[in-house]
Amino acid sequence: MTQESMGKERASQLSSQWAGRRPEEILRLALETFGRDRIAFSSSLGAEDQVITDLIHREELEVPLFTLDTGRLHQETYDVLDATRHRYGMKVEVLFPEASSVERLVTEHGPNLFYLGIDKRKECCHARKIEPLKRKLSTLDAWICGLRREQSVTRLDVDVVEWDEAFGLFKVNPLVDASEAWVWEYIRSNGVPYNRLHDQGFPSIGCAPCTRAVEPGEDVRAGRWWWEQAEHRECGLHRHKDK
Ligand code: ADX
Ligand code: SF4
Repeated sequence: MTQESMGKERASQLSSQWAGRRPEEILRLALETFGRDRIAFSSSLGAEDQVITDLIHREELEVPLFTLDTGRLHQETYDVLDATRHRYGMKVEVLFPEASSVERLVTEHGPNLFYLGIDKRKECCHARKIEPLKRKLSTLDAWICGLRREQSVTRLDVDVVEWDEAFGLFKVNPLVDASEAWVWEYIRSNGVPYNRLHDQGFPSIGCAPCTRAVEPGEDVRAGRWWWEQAEHRECGLHRHKDK
């Protein structure tokens, strides 16, 4: 059996065992299953991830946190990073891209290369997000993410535990079944620090040049890489099944 088929089988066993559990129970089970040195939470500092951070703190779970600073984030995102550090007193490891990769891309194609076509956009995401993430994930057996099924057409088949083929480790999604309303109820009733852009029509926040506000009724991810087709609107952090 290959590592991939073993991983898939184990992920599907864990998913059936953990399905329907509360997010904090899933976090605890994930920590027990993989061990604190081999699991980490990848936070974009968005609404879902702030809920997970609050749960980790509230439940006193020793899950390390990291975030990818692409160098192109909004000031509001840096503000929420600071607010989170102060509120919870937790260390948030900040990962940067390789300077030489970004220097090469920007020198060759200019600072706004993402608007020049999907290939350039993906090269930018690769240098600024995927490569630093890959470096981090190579030290782990599992990573925790804030994906929800409801988020978009690209995420309908997300499971609570998945074998992440792209990076070769397990991915745990404790909020897979949560609704947007539940996330916001949790944030408001627990006074969780959140990105001010969420109050200005930004349900999903990535890099500043690649995120816009959405209109009422639009898909929550419609403002991400809005100039591309909906089925392409992933950066490679979460390549799903055949997408
Ligand atoms: S993305 O692939 O389009 O950027 P999205 O913003 O919906 O993803 O976030 C989904 C999950 O990916 C987050 O809950 C988080 O676990 C992870 N993630 C996204 N962006 C980052 C980031 N900058 N740093 C760390 N984790 C991230
Ligand atoms: Fe580059 Fe935009 Fe991807 Fe950020 S989201 S890494 S700016 S292409």
